[in-house]
Amino acid sequence: MLHLIVYFLIQCLIVVNGLSLDINDRDSICAAAKAISDGEWNYYEGLKYGGVVGMFAAPNYWWNAGEAFGGLLDYFSYCDPTNETLESLIYDGMYHQAGAGFNYIPSNQSMTEGNDDQGVWGMAIMQAVERNFTNPPDHSWLSMTQAVYNTMNARWDNTTCDGGLRWQIFTWNSGYDYKNSIANGCLFHLAARLARYLGNDTYVETAEKVWDWMYGVGFMVSKGDEFILYDGADISANCTDLTTYQWSYTYGIMLSGCAYLYDYTGDDVWLERSNDLLTASGQFFNNSIMYEMQCAPSNNCNNDQRSFRSLFARSLGLTSVLVNSTAETISGWIDTSSVAAAQSCSGGSDGITCGFNWAVNGWDGVYGLGEQQSALETVLALLTEMPLTASTGGTSISDVNAGLNTGDTINTNLITISTRDKAGAGVLTAVVLGVILAAGVWMVL
Ligand SMILES: *[C@@H]1O[C@H](CO)[C@@H](O)[C@H](O)[C@H]1NC(C)=O
Ligand SMILES: *[C@@H]1O[C@H](CO)[C@@H](O)[C@H](O)[C@H]1NC(C)=O
Ligand SMILES: *[C@@H]1O[C@H](CO)[C@@H](O)[C@H](O)[C@H]1NC(C)=O
Ligand SMILES: *[C@@H]1O[C@H](CO)[C@@H](O)[C@H](O)[C@H]1NC(C)=O
Ligand SMILES: *[C@@H]1O[C@H](CO)[C@@H](O)[C@H](O)[C@H]1NC(C)=O
Ligand SMILES: *[C@@H]1O[C@H](CO)[C@@H](O)[C@H](O)[C@H]1NC(C)=O
Ligand SMILES: *[C@@H]1O[C@H](CO)[C@@H](O)[C@H](O)[C@H]1NC(C)=O
Ligand SMILES: *[C@@H]1O[C@H](CO)[C@@H](O)[C@H](O)[C@H]1NC(C)=O
Repeated sequence: MLHLIVYFLIQCLIVVNGLSLDINDRDSICAAAKAISDGEWNYYEGLKYGGVVGMFAAPNYWWNAGEAFGGLLDYFSYCDPTNETLESLIYDGMYHQAGAGFNYIPSNQSMTEGNDDQGVWGMAIMQAVERNFTNPPDHSWLSMTQAVYNTMNARWDNTTCDGGLRWQIFTWNSGYDYKNSIANGCLFHLAARLARYLGNDTYVETAEKVWDWMYGVGFMVSKGDEFILYDGADISANCTDLTTYQWSYTYGIMLSGCAYLYDYTGDDVWLERSNDLLTASGQFFNNSIMYEMQCAPSNNCNNDQRSFRSLFARSLGLTSVLVNSTAETISGWIDTSSVAAAQSCSGGSDGITCGFNWAVNGWDGVYGLGEQQSALETVLALLTEMPLTASTGGTSISDVNAGLNTGDTINTNLITISTRDKAGAGVLTAVVLGVILAAGVWMVL
């Protein structure tokens, strides 16, 4: 009886105070991460009757699933590497969404998939490579990452703005005429990781190509001590009419891309760029607590934006191990943010639902896959391990031509699709764009 009362009291403490986290104790970190990831699986459709393996509940899109699996894979590798149930859940989910060409362009996502979406899935499967996650027998995680890279790089478009990737892959999705930092940043980031993993300088050349173009076109700007990374620009004015929003995940993937390149090349230029982006990333912290600076203060973050801190936190963790001179600054942020994030995870009927504003005491009443992912990856950033390479124990099999020889029709956008579906996609993207723009106007007001 006493036992039960004590148990009940402990449960109350947890519910009232969220997850308590001792950042110096691995067991405490993993216990918090387990609770948060359990909450994340609650959004998973793959185990529900009629649900699709690899997908999460609406309003989450296909790309959100790619982002989610990256965090769940890190949780598995750092905290629960012998749990075979967890391993197969992650394996099945990631493999099922590879698409018929094993390049993460599943044909039934052509209404929503942009270059950034494919790139975020590419990051998750590259993580599988770097964490030596069990490989599918016929298509290794590495070969599929190479297919993502090769198909993205083949879409490099010199016909407008002198280069760059468009936001969208398919002509019928609105946003096809927009070039942006997240799509190009994904190519930069994947090129950096492949270069380091395989020790192949061709990928460094691609990373340089992307960096130079983004800098040249004005998506990245140095102003004295300040370094700014903007959202993107429409091709109509030769990419000169910039959309000036700034998002944490874009900073994160560019920063960690530079860190991979510095670790691989030892070239000081990548250290300087890492440092510039690191300093600039300070704007996403208030009193060392991470927040989505562009939309959080006005309470206007949409479902996607509420997940951005997950990729940002993952990127910071990677940067801190790849470029050790950044570790002190990053620990300062992650130590405080992880405790703040964990204590927000006291909501919902499950008592492990994480909130959005980590600066308030307890759960703020906001919930979703994005909140859960962001808290999970911020906590896991405390445990980031050095990513493997082919020469330090990675075993995934390379295929440099993956994705180039499948004869798929993706690059020429020849997939047949009914006009009605096309119109639907246009409207959907237009609505999303409208919401983003409206949020922007609101912010400016
Ligand atoms: C193994 O993973 C599954 C799926 O996430 C989870 O339900 C289970 O609690 C885990 N087992 C242990 C011992 O942590
Ligand atoms: C899309 O394709 C996958 C894989 O072929 C399939 O399992 C799924 O049911 C399809 N539909 C959706 C909505 O993902
Ligand atoms: C695009 O421009 C780059 C850099 O100038 C060049 O290396 C590449 O071959 C061009 N690609 C195409 C398809 O024209
Ligand atoms: C268009 O932008 C590119 C990249 O910034 C620049 O190199 C080129 O000169 C511009 N072309 C025109 C016609 O302004
Ligand atoms: C930063 O935190 C302080 C203290 O909690 C708060 O008053 C302020 O509004 C926050 N600033 C932003 C931009 O959220
Ligand atoms: C970074 O690593 C190098 C080489 O291992 C070491 O000499 C240096 O002291 C480390 N720097 C920091 C800040 O930890
Ligand atoms: C990687 O996985 C393979 C196959 O499961 C295994 O044989 C190998 O020991 C693992 N390597 C490391 C460094 O964990
Ligand atoms: C390096 O990567 C490039 C691009 O995928 C590929 O064409 C080339 O064959 C690779 N080189 C080696 C030695 O594997």
